[in-house]
Amino acid sequence: MSCLHNPICINILIILPICHPDHRKYPGPLLYLSLLHRYNTENSRKISLLRQGDIMADKRITDSLTEQIHILRYEDINGSGRLFGGTLVSWIDEVAVAVAIRHCGTQVTTASIDNLQFKEAAYLGDLLVIVGRITYVGRTSMEVRVDSYIEKSDGTRHPINRAFLTLVSIGTDDTPIPVESKLILSNSAEETEWENAKKRVELRKQRRREGF
Ligand SMILES: CC(C)(COP(=O)(O)OP(=O)(O)OC[C@H]1O[C@@H](n2cnc3c(N)ncnc32)[C@H](O)[C@@H]1OP(=O)(O)O)[C@@H](O)C(=O)NCCC(=O)NCCS
Repeated sequence: MSCLHNPICINILIILPICHPDHRKYPGPLLYLSLLHRYNTENSRKISLLRQGDIMADKRITDSLTEQIHILRYEDINGSGRLFGGTLVSWIDEVAVAVAIRHCGTQVTTASIDNLQFKEAAYLGDLLVIVGRITYVGRTSMEVRVDSYIEKSDGTRHPINRAFLTLVSIGTDDTPIPVESKLILSNSAEETEWENAKKRVELRKQRRREGF
């Protein structure tokens, strides 16, 4: 099933534009009620309806960068008084889906979540910040890195989790379609991230060939 058939995913698409660091570029939730629109990222102007096969503009990492915030509530906490890992994974997935959709402008589905490292615990009342950025674009797939932090009252962020997800662009028949937007790398750090992602993509392919 596509993520866009899932009400949680649709809600996050509505909510996330408000949380986006450059929310002026994403002027309102209504624009995210469907994926019918795509945007010219240079001038933030709505330019046409998105159809399968449309040519999409190339994009920078910042064009799809997504930040989501949670203040941890009782329902997020497990029996040991810490953030329930499954809840965090679902938030991570939502952020990664939003990043991928912002990049490719089509429906996407999550193919894999890996290198999911829980580094620190989080507790009731903590301010949790989840940041997703695209690291690599393949033919039909995209790798998204998601970092989760606890933000202290002095503004410092302490990493609690890092994950890499593979999202696949899918068409109306739920099968993979090419990602039209290339990724524009703006500096050497982004180039290094791309090269590292390329190695991970190759490793994933090898693991699949080996039935791992
Ligand atoms: C993900 C899915 C669309 C891939 O379909 P497929 O027929 O295997 O397609 P392909 O083999 O052509 O792979 C398509 C792309 O996905 C990548 N891919 C496929 N399986 C993958 C996996 N397990 N891990 C990472 N990447 C994967 C391939 O490398 C390829 O990338 P590329 O085009 O950039 O080179 C399909 O397996 C699927 O629908 N899975 C269920 C997804 C789902 O329901 N997710 C949870 C709900 S959101």
